[in-house]
Amino acid sequence: MAVAGWNEADAREIIARLAPIEGALLPILHALQDEFGYVDAAADEMIADALNISRAEVFGAIAFYHDFRRAPAGRRVVKICRAEACQANGCEQLITELRARHGLAPDETSNDRLTIETVYCLGNCALGPAALVDGELVARLDADRLAKICDGGSIEDAQVAAGASA
Ligand code: FES
Repeated sequence: MAVAGWNEADAREIIARLAPIEGALLPILHALQDEFGYVDAAADEMIADALNISRAEVFGAIAFYHDFRRAPAGRRVVKICRAEACQANGCEQLITELRARHGLAPDETSNDRLTIETVYCLGNCALGPAALVDGELVARLDADRLAKICDGGSIEDAQVAAGASA
């Protein structure tokens, strides 16, 4: 999904529009991230002022929810599930291999090209290890497929290969 670059005027408009609703903090953060691809640090004070809360509360919400980013994501976004069922299916070994062989790791690798993040359950527990790649679910990941995906490879190929390994 194409997102606009950070724009303070647009951010102010989003915050002002959503501030009156009850429990506005999370809707505002989601709306900012939808619009800009991340929640710029400059938004913290604007949100705090609009909701009459502290900047620490805004910061705390952003830090608590893994979905919120503080910087734009790479062109490819890989969200690797590390919840219990995927752990039982070997996700941590995949992550260890990814780090050892390619120097990439969830919640550490983020650049123009690639962002890798941790998620906890994608609702695909029976077919783990699972990942969400640019919003598309990929099941039964193995180390080679994960590496190819991180290298910008075809999501569809990874999905087909997962089906073939069933
Ligand atoms: S535990 Fe990974 S998809 Fe549910």
